[in-house]
Amino acid sequence: MLSLQQVRVRLEEAGQAHVLRFWPELSEAERGGLLRDLVQLDLQGLRAHCEGAARAAGRPASGPDPLLDPVPPGAMGSVRKSDEDSLAEWEREGLFQISENGVGVLLLAGGQGTRLGVQYPKGMFDVGLPSGSTLYQIQAERIHRIQQLADRKHGSQCCVPWYIMTSEFTLAPTEKFFKENNYFDLEPSNIVMFEQRMIPAVTFDGKVILQEKGKIAMAPDGNGGLYQALVDNKVLEDMQKRGVEYLHVYCVDNILVKMADPVFIGFCVSKGADCGAKVVEKASVAEPVGVVCRVRGVSQVVEYSEIQPETAELRGPGGELVFSAGNICNHFFTRAFLQDVAENYKGQLKQHVAFKKVPFVDTCGNQVRPTKPNAIKMEKFVFDVFPFSRNFVAFEVLREEEFSPLKNADGASDSPTTARNALLAQHCRWARAANATLLDGQGNALPAVASASEDNPPVQCEISPLVSYFGEGLEELLTGRMLTTPLLLDGKRAKELLMKSSVGVLP
Ligand code: UD1
Repeated sequence: MLSLQQVRVRLEEAGQAHVLRFWPELSEAERGGLLRDLVQLDLQGLRAHCEGAARAAGRPASGPDPLLDPVPPGAMGSVRKSDEDSLAEWEREGLFQISENGVGVLLLAGGQGTRLGVQYPKGMFDVGLPSGSTLYQIQAERIHRIQQLADRKHGSQCCVPWYIMTSEFTLAPTEKFFKENNYFDLEPSNIVMFEQRMIPAVTFDGKVILQEKGKIAMAPDGNGGLYQALVDNKVLEDMQKRGVEYLHVYCVDNILVKMADPVFIGFCVSKGADCGAKVVEKASVAEPVGVVCRVRGVSQVVEYSEIQPETAELRGPGGELVFSAGNICNHFFTRAFLQDVAENYKGQLKQHVAFKKVPFVDTCGNQVRPTKPNAIKMEKFVFDVFPFSRNFVAFEVLREEEFSPLKNADGASDSPTTARNALLAQHCRWARAANATLLDGQGNALPAVASASEDNPPVQCEISPLVSYFGEGLEELLTGRMLTTPLLLDGKRAKELLMKSSVGVLP
């Protein structure tokens, strides 16, 4: 461990001596905490980091837009445009890989969820479903089910390990939550939580910000911090030990996420891809999703915060958006590709600059809450490795089946209500496709509504992923049944339905 004197010298060399300005006033505990934070920092890299941030802040924003091209239609797979046989073949391949223990899932859960405004990790959020399930619970149940589907088909006893990248903000509460929930009945040794690095927020002139007299303002280094975190925490070695060759990386907030989706895995594997991304057609010009496109012929994502408005608005002859391939933060990587990135490319990832309002103590020690951005946070993005891929594929999926993110509090788009409605609407479609009639409390049949909205919420019909992952297996439970809503079709209810052979109204 470095001494105070050594830290002081390094801070001076990095032009950051002000960080110890209040040292004489700090309590022993505060001094210990600050020293610990400073020792963990890459002090040698700090100067370059701060200067880079300051330079970035001084530059006018300039996107690569003139060099952008959409992904050519031929280079993109699509659920909508593929025939049944191809989809079935990809699913078969994906389930086979899963049954061979060749597939893992990796959850990006290091974000702070500031837009949603909760003080705990987003995965612990309950969107108000009849089951009261949190996002973590839903995801855990999908892992159970996909393992079961692969086992049934191949007579295996497979495992899909769940890697979870957290940050200083989310690790402890996530661990606690999983423990309290008995790891959602998954084998704890197959859940691997690890922490990404944090980096300091800096002022526009490149000075580390003191959030308190004895605490520097730190933030996670963006979801592209994944690649450093994989190395720091020996995750690739763990994957190798388990025989995991393919990884499905996804973000925490999409309530419809199909984890280890066999169709997507099978598609990527059969195309020989080392890297892939699921996309949905953008809903509107302003939808806050990155677009998968080509820059100078190389596949990558241009983030919604960085695309020029004129580019986002470009339309083709039929009025369709030219850049319409919306990134839903669902990525496929081979382990070999991740190894290559870890060894050769992770240092080359672009640093993205975000301007934020970060509370700080001024030179006199007063606490200040800025009303306009005062700080730069540098972030890496998970998709910035796409350009290093040798064979990148994009795969377009149906929004109503696969994408409804929870980003904001109710009252805005992508909220708890929109996420809940998207899931319930999907489950109503599944129940009806299995020929069930859904009834209201008075026994009247409920009509199918074309699209749910806040004023016209979908029928309360929820199907646990333990019973069905993508609508499969519901006929034997539901065909010809009249089911009173609200309905929660969980494992227990499914057993009851199986036992009742006669068709009739069930409470
Ligand atoms: C992200 C995508 C965007 C996509 C959108 C779809 C990135 C950089 N952007 O945007 O292209 O259209 O999702 O919903 O991927 N996270 C970490 N560590 C961090 C920061 C974030 O693990 O340091 C995690 C979050 O917990 C979350 C995921 O990364 O699971 C995405 O982060 P978020 O900030 O929500 O991304 P968006 O801006 O919504």
